[in-house]
Amino acid sequence: TQQIPDILSPEFAHNPYPAYRMMREEAPLIWHEPTQSYLISRYEDVERAFKDKAGVFTTDNYHWQIEPVHGRTILQLSGREHSVRRALVAPAFRGAELQQKFLPVIERNARQLIDTFRHTGSVDLVDGFATRFPVNVIADMLGLDKADHARFHRWYTAVIAFLGNLSGDADVIAAGERTRVEFAEYMIPIIRSRRDALGDDLLSTLCRAEVDGVRMSDEDIKAFCSLLLAAGGETTDKAIASIFANLLLHPDQLAAVRADRGLIPRAFAETLRFTPPVHMIMRQTAQAVSVSGGTIPAGATVTCLIGAANRDSGRYRDPDSFDIFRDDLTTTTAFSAAADHLAFALGRHFCVGALLAKAEVETGVNQLLDAMPDVRLADGYDPVEQGVFTRGPQSLPVVFTPAAG
Ligand code: HEM
Repeated sequence: TQQIPDILSPEFAHNPYPAYRMMREEAPLIWHEPTQSYLISRYEDVERAFKDKAGVFTTDNYHWQIEPVHGRTILQLSGREHSVRRALVAPAFRGAELQQKFLPVIERNARQLIDTFRHTGSVDLVDGFATRFPVNVIADMLGLDKADHARFHRWYTAVIAFLGNLSGDADVIAAGERTRVEFAEYMIPIIRSRRDALGDDLLSTLCRAEVDGVRMSDEDIKAFCSLLLAAGGETTDKAIASIFANLLLHPDQLAAVRADRGLIPRAFAETLRFTPPVHMIMRQTAQAVSVSGGTIPAGATVTCLIGAANRDSGRYRDPDSFDIFRDDLTTTTAFSAAADHLAFALGRHFCVGALLAKAEVETGVNQLLDAMPDVRLADGYDPVEQGVFTRGPQSLPVVFTPAAG
């Protein structure tokens, strides 16, 4: 059999997809010594781990993977405690709250950023838009000062590096732990003063919220805001960069989306399948479980390779091609991501911000296409993806005929 490439190798970082295929086809369950975890790569196995009908695949690993940088978040919680906490925050990210209160925030933030470059005829869509837009939206939703954007970006980058620190680099650990301290120093005084002057923002909602008659503590709220900045910043940032990279590399599909904006949800779903922002999510087994013919013992860490599962030929026809018209996507205009791919996970911890992310991407793509009627990649530029844990184009320089006036 062929040698399975190491997920920590430079070849894998450059292009993980050949390795993913090899794993799915020849070694769907691997003990990976360097990360001390079992790698699973087939769609049905990753789907089963996320759905976790049997209560085997817990998120106990987040006590060491997330707690040192965020504190205690809903990702570590399970059972009733998790569902009560989640129910407190979920309404802000869907339905009327999202449409009436936060959609205008999303539209305004997209416009403000696009106004900084619409008259110039060129921009790096990663640096000039994708890394700024989602984090500005969350800062605005929480009622934080967007002038602190650079700090938020630095913090969430350090947090994501900590989560994706598969090789255990000591500097990355130290930077992540420093971020927790800095974020607390920044956030706790804001939470305290917000409690005295509650408003209409999401932070005020969290201050008001009660769990079983008990208010969330300053520490709980701070941890949740920290999770929101990282979970909602880095991921949506990568999704926007990737949807544009995929469309720019497939000009016929870009033209179709430009002509019929109703295709944006398909382009979004196919982008999340083809190039998911989060490539791997970990779980911890509560008991021994058999997977793809092998056994994972109790208490083991399992790395669920979303990037591999999303290209499983057992699930998708021609999985390595980007095709917004593929007939194995169920998305038309309705939101049905859960049936389309594993980029938002599934089950109890299914991304609570999925509809917010979708609203941001739809608004961003719509406004960018309006502002850049003939957008194309800068001459000779070939988008290069970066990252193993989260992944997306490193930069995306484009040119277009600038708006008049
Ligand atoms: C959970 C991906 C956008 C907030 C998750 C999970 C994934 C994910 C894979 C599951 C983690 C696990 O099961 O261990 C994404 C992607 C996004 C995105 C790909 C963009 C395209 C957002 C946004 C927010 C958000 C915009 C909010 C501002 C959360 C939260 C959780 C979560 C709070 C934890 C849910 C729970 O534990 O019940 N996300 N996310 N995400 N996401 Fe997202």
